[in-house]
Amino acid sequence: MNAFAIEHVSKSYILEGAERPVLKDINLQVGHNEIVAIVGASGCGKSTLLRLVVGLDADYRGTISWGNHDRTSASKVGMVFQDHRLYPWLTVQGNVDLAFDNTRLSAAERRDRTSHYLQLVGLADYAKAYPRQLSGGMAQRAAIARALAQEPEVLLMDEPFGALDSILRMRLQDELLSIWEKNKVSIIIVTHDVEEALYLADRVLVMEPNPGRIRDVVEVDLPRPRDRSDPAIAELKRRCLATLV
Ligand SMILES: Nc1ncnc2c1ncn2[C@@H]1O[C@H](COP(=O)(O)OP(=O)(O)OP(=O)(O)O)[C@@H](O)[C@H]1O
Ligand SMILES: [Mg+2]
Repeated sequence: MNAFAIEHVSKSYILEGAERPVLKDINLQVGHNEIVAIVGASGCGKSTLLRLVVGLDADYRGTISWGNHDRTSASKVGMVFQDHRLYPWLTVQGNVDLAFDNTRLSAAERRDRTSHYLQLVGLADYAKAYPRQLSGGMAQRAAIARALAQEPEVLLMDEPFGALDSILRMRLQDELLSIWEKNKVSIIIVTHDVEEALYLADRVLVMEPNPGRIRDVVEVDLPRPRDRSDPAIAELKRRCLATLV
């Protein structure tokens, strides 16, 4: 059974009165506990696709169907946006705590979970800070904590590690994998970094622009934990880059 399936999805925006196709005939089935990475040129529709999946935009053709749960139960789908979208009037802690609205967790459980996930992303000392007091990478980590705290069944991440230095990036990649192993979550991660995609994902979709289409699907059939310098990864990277460039 799939976590969800995208079938023949196409999407256009109207720009200056003219229809501009952005996504064309996207097909993707994501299994339970599968990690799918999406790479592709800027503007090829990656963020648009995630917006459709999470339900922020219903104006598309085709179908997006869910396996064993209803998308409208929002707590099951977590999203990390490309821009962090923290609420500026709430502290870091307050932003993460929002994940528990509409849950039955007690105040103490909310506090525990919030501090657990802030610890995980290295922001325990910034629980009381406001988003404007954070660097770009810290804000992004707070947004990751907020999404993880929901303990979603499907996690959609739009360049979640883009603003982080390479050491932190690698650490959070490993944290993400360990959360994935524990929680059996399905993940779609959009990234500009082909190595990141190949390190994390079971499948890498390579998209091409104008209109956005899936150009290649690269299976990454390598056991985890993966060796970042594995020649097999280098080979797959060559294939992805050849398609991208
Ligand atoms: N609200 C909108 N109205 C009109 N056009 C839009 C809108 N949002 C996105 N677009 C257009 O859709 C295309 C795809 O945008 P999208 O943000 O999905 O790309 P992306 O692949 O995420 O790019 P990046 O890697 O730069 O984040 C772009 O050409 C963009 O101009
Ligand atoms: Mg984008």
